[in-house]
Amino acid sequence: MYAHNVNVRVTETILLKNAQLATCEQGATACGLVPDGCVVLENGRISWCGTSTELPEAFRELPAHDCAGRLLTPSFIDCHTHIVHGGHRAVEFEKRLQGASYSEIAAAGGGIVSTMSATREASVENLINTALPRVDSLLAEGVSVIEIKSGYGLDMETELNMLRAAREIGRIRPVVVKTSFLGAHALPAEFKNKADEYIDTVCIPALEQAHDERLVDAVDGFCETIAFNVQQIERVFIKAELLGLPVKLHAEQLSLQGGAELAARYKALSADHLEYLDLDGVKAMANAGTVAVLLPGAFYTLRETQCPPVAALRKYGVPIAIATDCNPGSSPLSSLLLTMNMACNLFQLTPEEALIGVTRNAAVALGIKDRGVIAAGMQADLSLWAVEHPAELSYRMGFNPLIERFK
Ligand code: NIG
Ligand code: FE
Repeated sequence: MYAHNVNVRVTETILLKNAQLATCEQGATACGLVPDGCVVLENGRISWCGTSTELPEAFRELPAHDCAGRLLTPSFIDCHTHIVHGGHRAVEFEKRLQGASYSEIAAAGGGIVSTMSATREASVENLINTALPRVDSLLAEGVSVIEIKSGYGLDMETELNMLRAAREIGRIRPVVVKTSFLGAHALPAEFKNKADEYIDTVCIPALEQAHDERLVDAVDGFCETIAFNVQQIERVFIKAELLGLPVKLHAEQLSLQGGAELAARYKALSADHLEYLDLDGVKAMANAGTVAVLLPGAFYTLRETQCPPVAALRKYGVPIAIATDCNPGSSPLSSLLLTMNMACNLFQLTPEEALIGVTRNAAVALGIKDRGVIAAGMQADLSLWAVEHPAELSYRMGFNPLIERFK
């Protein structure tokens, strides 16, 4: 098994002092920056935070760590990954560089379906061992929560195995894993022209079984011409609702299908990708409180030219999160810091939006209420960075300034 080299300090009661806090709290400006900040961690929670002058007398004698004026943020959250999968698609990468499109490769039996074959051949142990180096790459950058989807099994057994591997990763690494069932990701060859039958006989029964085994935290789908239509996804969402599971959706990635509006009707936690999202979709998401998860790694890898409608998302107050979308096809990306840089350079997010997108809004996109901001009562999980300004996190490329993660 891969060794992991992640600087996590697991601590009991501690006072983190002399820090520049980016609290990332709702309503605050400039990431909620507190220049001379202190945070008290007790029993796994943040019990107090504020400026050093406000620090109550009772906390002044606690064992302390001097942050030397460095930036302290909530530990990061990667809210959209397909990090568990068999094989790789480097050969497709070469084909795309020669001009083949993602959709053409998918139509010719490559793409998601080719990863399906490699994933079906892998054991749970193998899925875990091949995912761990990618997981460790995220952990090395202060990632504390990773969302992991199924969706490369496309049969009952392999969908369950992917989710079992995901759960096990949460047990063997210092990371919270949130799972999403993505049975409606692509149509396997054995169901060619029988998408409805696939939904009824594989996808929905696998969801029920996975839910019975407590393997599912949310239900996802891929609404696209090369995947499933709105009606088919809706049937999966109806089942999710019956099981009491929240939904999310890969929507409007390659074309406008109305997936975001469907997601909003089911009060989805998030709709993801969104390059082709229209104004009606933006408004529907705003009304439903659905987070827009932007995935610049897929945009970059597929050499997409249409950007998600960031100005409209801002105007209507749709919360924006960003994520790696770590997967072997459209986004072989295992760095959330680089994702932040890409979100700024490709989508013109501000560095502040990028930071909020991997903390507070990423927590909302996963339905997590006690992470993503520095505030009393939240989980004690903070990352200390060797930077002087929060924008530095987004500004460099291929550079990791994490000093230490405290939890
Ligand atoms: O989020 N868009 C659909 N699913 C993945 C791609 C998966 C793959 O190509 O293997 C995504 O980009
Ligand atoms: Fe995805």
